[in-house]
Formats: sequence, structure tokens, C-alpha cells
Amino acid sequence: MESRISGRTGVLALIGSPVGHSGSPAMYNYSFKRLGLDYVYVAFDVQKEQVAAAVDAVRTFGLRGCNVTMPCKTEIVTYMDALSPAARMCGAVNTVVNDDGRLTGHMTDGEGFVNNLRDHGIDVAGRRVVIAGSGGAATAIQVQCALDGVRELVIFNRTVEKAEQTAERIRAEVPSCTVRVHDIADTDTLTREIRGCEIFINGTSVGMAPEDGETVVKDTGAFYPGLVVADIVYHPKETRLLREARAAGCTCVGGKGMLLWQGVSAFRLYTGQEMPVEEVKARFFGD
Ligand code: ATR
Repeated sequence: MESRISGRTGVLALIGSPVGHSGSPAMYNYSFKRLGLDYVYVAFDVQKEQVAAAVDAVRTFGLRGCNVTMPCKTEIVTYMDALSPAARMCGAVNTVVNDDGRLTGHMTDGEGFVNNLRDHGIDVAGRRVVIAGSGGAATAIQVQCALDGVRELVIFNRTVEKAEQTAERIRAEVPSCTVRVHDIADTDTLTREIRGCEIFINGTSVGMAPEDGETVVKDTGAFYPGLVVADIVYHPKETRLLREARAAGCTCVGGKGMLLWQGVSAFRLYTGQEMPVEEVKARFFGD
């Protein structure tokens, strides 16, 4: 690795906290080396209060860009010179591209989710989608679903006001997408809406280890053969939601691919080239 770093090597970074466990440096550095691109990718532990200084550093050191993770994704928005439509609608940024000091903030999490579905042969355009959750990840998915032509989006959340805020933004910006909001405690309505949709997504943290005995779908009668059920939770690999959906004949998609595909989108933004995705998948996203 060191032998390929020179005074001209472009630098990219992950910023946020914690970052030490992240698989991003391995994924990007492997791809740079594989494609012969003169970049290196590192990780910097940055707290929310340090975001302004970190953005200054991106400009001062001439970083090509950075990925942004918790707890900095919303804080960094105000320091951008421009925002992609998805970043503007989400009010959050996970990828910053530095073009000679002009910083553009992007949000590739939703795109990553949608492209992971596409990788599984599922297209969201024209579909009826039911999604649980209104956190950062769920919001990014909802926004991208609307931008990618979902016909009807039904959001279930514990805190209904949060879901309403996203719904309002989508109604204003993507009027072709019908958005409705319900309380996730309303099990009967959730069951009915899932039965009437083509794709159900868990965008909440429910089902994540060590609380992997939980699921947002209380009534497994909601599932029908052929329904697509996708989970953003990737630890455990098969959540209780996916296990029960699979038993009912649903087509199931786990959460790990979203991480890969959000990186594929960011890689394209930084380099203008395609990540060697099948190799990266086999090497870093296998079982
Ligand atoms: P992330 O940024 O990873 O998406 P987050 O912003 O903490 O994480 O969001 C977690 C989501 O899971 C939220 O939608 C949260 O519901 P609230 O918006 O009401 O907080 C949802 N969530 C977490 N625990 C839940 C539970 N036990 N039941 C239902 N929803 C839950």
C-alpha cells in the first residue's frame, strides 16, 4: 500500500464517531488499488462540535471528499456550498465532494438501498411501498423511493410527527408520489397496508442484535408469497422479520447490501469510475 502513496496522492476520508470499526477504508482502498487510481482513504474521529473545523480541513488539505457518518450527518449540511436533491430533502449529507474548494453534499444512503434492491432484481418505480421508521436511514430511503418513481409511499412510525415532516417534504417536491402516514402501534392498519403493497421495508432499528427477538410486524398474516420484504438491519444477517417473511414465501433482502451500494454511489461521485462491485462484494460483503 505505502509504495503507491506519493506527494500527489489524493486523499479521501470517513468522518464521524466512532469510525474505527468501519469497513469503508478497506472497500475504497481495495478499489483504488484494483483500478490503479492514485487515491488513499482514511478515517478521522470527528465529533459533532468539530464539524466546522473538519470542513475547513477538507478545504485546507485539499481532500477530494469525505464520507460522513453519525453524529455529523445533519450538522455538516450548513457548511456545504451546494446540495444534491436527496441531501436537501433529507436535511443530511453522507458524501462530500470537493471540487477545487467548492463542496457539494450528497446523500447516497437511499440510493444505496434502492440499488441493492435493483441488484436483487427489484425495481421500485411505479410500486406501492410500505416503510417503517423515520430515522436518518428510513428518511433517506423514503426520499430516494419518491425520487425514483414510487407511486405510493405509506410510512409507519412511533413518532408520527417525524414521519409527517418527511411526508410533507416529499409531497411538496415530488407530487407524483402519494404519501400517507400512520402510527406504527396501529397493528391492524399496518397489516392491511402490507397486504396491499408490493414492497415492505423495515427502516427502524427494531430487530438489531442484541434485541434480535423483536420485529415491527406483529401479525405474520400480513405477509403473502411474492411480497418483497427488505430490512435495513444487517446484524443479525437474517432478522426475525426476514425469517418470518421467508417462511411465508416472501422475497427477502437483508440490510448489508445498502452499505455496499451507498459506497458504490460515493465512489462514482469521487472518481467518475465504477467500483469493481462484484469483487468488493465477494471480498468484503460475503458471509
Ligand atoms: P438511523 O439514523 O440509523 O436511522 P435513528 O435515527 O435512531 O437511526 O432512527 C431509528 C428509527 O427506529 C426511528 O424511526 C425510531 O422511531 P422514532 O422515530 O419514534 O424514534 C425507530 N425505532 C427505534 N426503536 C423502536 C421501537 N422499539 N419501536 C418502533 N420504532 C422504533
